Amino acid sequence: MIKLTINGQAQDVDVAGDTPLLWVLRDTLGMTGTKFGCGKALCGACTVHVDGAPTRACITPAESVAGKSITTIEGLSSNRSHPVQLAWMELDVPQCGYCQSGQIMAAAALLKQNPKPTDADIDSAMSGNICRCGTYPRIRKAIHRAAELSTKEGG
Ligand code: FES
Ligand code: FES
Repeated sequence: MIKLTINGQAQDVDVAGDTPLLWVLRDTLGMTGTKFGCGKALCGACTVHVDGAPTRACITPAESVAGKSITTIEGLSSNRSHPVQLAWMELDVPQCGYCQSGQIMAAAALLKQNPKPTDADIDSAMSGNICRCGTYPRIRKAIHRAAELSTKEGG
């Protein structure tokens, strides 16, 4: 049994220690917001936060994150009110949508670390998140918009 804390809730999961976190989220717990893209840390579709850091769930063994705080897209906010989610909706960022929960989680982690990123900061932080629909220009705009919304929120 592995003890995980996901979106603030304790979860005991009966899986082998080397089971990828992505499998635990999707198959064991039915949390399908986090996507499977490549399974090899190459696309970013499976990005979650582990103790606030963007992390590829597809190559993260469940036992390695026991006792750490895991946040998935389902836990980013309770009502889609995170500034990144608001900006994404305002600018209609997604096309097919498949990569987007990973993009949003990567963007949220970036803004936490760097509340006013430049285009270069954004390109560098988001470079591991692939979008086959090519929504990159809207992603970049939405991150700037989310930064504005966060500043307003903060006062
Ligand atoms: S599914 Fe994890 S990086 Fe592609
Ligand atoms: S929106 Fe389709 S892959 Fe990114």
